[in-house]
This record gives sequence, C-alpha cells and structure tokens, in this order.
Amino acid sequence: MSATIIDGKAFAAKVREQVATHVARLKDEHGITPGLAVVLVGEDPASEVYVRNKGKQTLEVGMNSFEHKLPADTSEADLLALIDQLNADPAVHGILVQLPLPGHLNSDLVINAIDPAKDVDGFHISNVGLLGTGQKCMVPCTPLGCLMMLREQHGKLSGLNAVVVGRSNIVGKPMAQLLLGDSCTVTIAHSRTKDLAEVCRRADILVAAVGRPEMIPGDWVKPGATVIDVGINRIPAPEKGEGKHRLVGDVEFASAAEVAGAITPVPGGVGPMTIACLLANTVTACCRANGLPEPEGLTA
Ligand code: GUN
Repeated sequence: MSATIIDGKAFAAKVREQVATHVARLKDEHGITPGLAVVLVGEDPASEVYVRNKGKQTLEVGMNSFEHKLPADTSEADLLALIDQLNADPAVHGILVQLPLPGHLNSDLVINAIDPAKDVDGFHISNVGLLGTGQKCMVPCTPLGCLMMLREQHGKLSGLNAVVVGRSNIVGKPMAQLLLGDSCTVTIAHSRTKDLAEVCRRADILVAAVGRPEMIPGDWVKPGATVIDVGINRIPAPEKGEGKHRLVGDVEFASAAEVAGAITPVPGGVGPMTIACLLANTVTACCRANGLPEPEGLTA
C-alpha cells in the first residue's frame, strides 16, 4: 500500500476543537451561546442514532442543543409551525430537519420553510442558488468536510482535474460547485457516464458519491491521485459470522490505496467530518446573525 490514509476521525476532532474554541470566545466576549435545533419526525432507527450523535457533539463543543422529536403522523402544518417558531427564536442559530421525512410530508416544502440564514444543512433553495453563483451561503456539511480535507492535503486546488462521481443534491452537485470555487476543472460523472473508467483515470481529485459498494476499482484511479470516498455501504460479511455485515465505501479500498497518493478510508474518512461541519456551520450562522467575524478555516 502506498497511499497516505487521510484520517477523517482525527481531522474531525481538530475541527470540533476549533469550533469549541470559537464557541468559548463567543460566550466570554459576547455572552452568546450558539444553538442548534434538530427536528426528527418518526422513529427511523438510523435517524435516531444520527440525531443522538448530533445532540451529544453539539453539547461537547459548548453549544446549546434543542431536540424536537415528533410522532411519525405529524401533520405538515404542525411541522411548519414548529419551523416558524425556531426561525423566530433568537437562541436558535441553526436548524436541521433530519431526512428522510415520512412519506406524507413534502421535504422540499419543509426545507424551504427554514430561514436560509439558519439552514445549517445548506439545503434551502436560496443557499443552493447562492452556492451555484459563488456567493456567501450555508454549505452542505459532507461536501464542506471533503473540501476541508482536500485543502489540507493539497494546499491550493487551483487547476487540478476533479471528477465527482454522483450527482445528488446533497453531495455530488454542491461538491462540484465547491471544487469549481477553488478553481478546479470539474467533471460530474454518474452511472450513465460513457467510459466512466477513463473519466476517472483523468482525475487528480476523485470524489466518489454514488452509493454503490466498491464500484470504483484501483485501476480507475490515476497514480498519485487523491481519492475521497463518500460512500457508506453496509454489505454482508459472512467471513465475520452468519448474518454479520461490514461497511465499505464506493471505492475498492485495497486496490485504490495501491495507486492513489492519498485516500479516505471507510469507516473513519468522510463520515466523521459531516457532524463536525454541522457544528462549524452552526458557529458560522451564529457569527453572521450577530454581525461578528466568522471562524477562519471552518467555511468554504
Ligand atoms: N439524513 C442523513 N444525512 C443527513 C444530513 O446530512 N442532513 C439531514 N437533514 N438529514 C440527513
């Protein structure tokens, strides 16, 4: 194995430390405690785990955490009323509505009801438009985490060929916009791309966000490239015992690590960065709401 393994767990801990320092300063110098509200509708077990982790890490960096757990049959009107209340609450600087929502609720309508200045997910249509036009906005957490890791690895990204495999609104598209903002030459590829292997082989930066286990083998990776694997796929692992599973990314790690210059593992790569960036976005939103300087290195 020749690649440098990018330690997302350690990097995320560093980001959380920076957030905690900034939170302490906001408290000491301005008497302001940043607050993050997380809304969970229903009882999806995976979502409950995410929400619990978010709440725990929010408190650990010294911020206020407001959890709103609503029953699965909550009406759209009731959910929108809660969002209005959080929009108007000066103690709440960030609002996150955990997705997916139960089927009877219109996610777009709900997300777009959040005050864009408090939209720490960066999913509101105003933030999407601002990002697309290179303006100051709230940036989706996972792509922001990937960008931070790439900047740490490369310094300047200007002029590099970046290939993003995956075109989701949450990762692929905003990732491409961020890389373009850092002056990369960006290609968005996806499952229908012709000669996907060849496209990937041109990448100095390869971001895999397709959600297909180990779809990208090592011989699609340009020697020395930086590979960011956003995929988190749970696959059967009979070698660990009957009914056991293991987590793999969208990249075939072992073969890619032979060729790449640097690569994120799964687990322990991009995953831990997402919540760290959510905390970073909450501090950023709090600073902007109060007309205070933003933390350096925690924004796009
Ligand atoms: N569900 C899984 N990931 C996310 C995320 O990043 N934000 C929200 N709101 N819901 C999610």
